[in-house]
Amino acid sequence: MTTSQSDASVNPELVADAVVGLWQDPPVLPAKWLYDKRGSELFDEITRLPEYYPTRRETEILRGHSGDIARHSGARTMIELGSGTSEKTRLLLQAFSDRGGDFTYVPLDVSVEMLTSAAEQLAAEFPAITVEPLHADFGDPALSLAHHRGPRMAIFLGGTIGNLDTGERADFFRRITGALRPGDFFLLGADLIKDSGRLIAAYNDRAGVTADFNRNVIEVLRTGLAARGLYADDFDHIARWNPAEHRIEMWLRARRNVFAEFGTIERSWTLPKGAEILTEISTKFDLDTLHDELAVAGLHRHHTWTDQAGDFAVLLSQVAG
Ligand code: AVJ
Repeated sequence: MTTSQSDASVNPELVADAVVGLWQDPPVLPAKWLYDKRGSELFDEITRLPEYYPTRRETEILRGHSGDIARHSGARTMIELGSGTSEKTRLLLQAFSDRGGDFTYVPLDVSVEMLTSAAEQLAAEFPAITVEPLHADFGDPALSLAHHRGPRMAIFLGGTIGNLDTGERADFFRRITGALRPGDFFLLGADLIKDSGRLIAAYNDRAGVTADFNRNVIEVLRTGLAARGLYADDFDHIARWNPAEHRIEMWLRARRNVFAEFGTIERSWTLPKGAEILTEISTKFDLDTLHDELAVAGLHRHHTWTDQAGDFAVLLSQVAG
């Protein structure tokens, strides 16, 4: 008897992504499945690893330039795509709070839990700022932010833009332009192309945290799709630099022939020993090329900041008027 298909705990998006991705050659899974509760905890640990420089570099930039960002944008509303409670969000909120005047922070997220905790914490810490959480999916083309007080500044930090491929980035930037108004701003954090040895080390740390983070997606599949015969320990973590696409790719390579049965979708899946699944891309950028991509979407270069070492960049663009 199979009752699992009507089980309310089955996530239809995971089912769809598995059905579309796992039977491709090579198999692929969207990176978002890495970020369940345990995956998010492991990612948090990654941000503190000695090899993983991006978080520290971006924080360095915001520590030095949040005041400049507040001044250059003159924003009255800051919309954060993927709600944050991080030090980076705080640095910006502090800078806007210091400027005085009415200011609204709009954390936007698909997860109600994330939104609620972010909104509560930040509202308590910044009494001068209005916090208006927005439960929305940024993938929704109809989403508008234009009713918030302008000038508005949407922010997308952490280098998460690197998870998107070229076509996905073009769509994403066009949605930003579409949700804002002419004269509004977009603040983007992006990791830059650098020595491939350092890049690979950042995604293949000595302590093995990134390996555990990557393998955790197998656990997400196992529990989410009621899989039998699928074990995280049967996979090796691979972090590879793809020079043509200038991106780090995380793969999982089967250590033995894998034969799994997914109860939820009533399908079986085989992966021969040595075959790999693509689990995440992390694109690295050249500043001029990234500014060109933004400009094509109507987001014009306004200001750029990098850290001392030139590892990471924060780009402020303005919606064409
Ligand atoms: C959260 C997408 C910015 O690409 O550096 C870190 C994810 N994966 N180590 C990145 C990640 C493995 C991270 N982003």
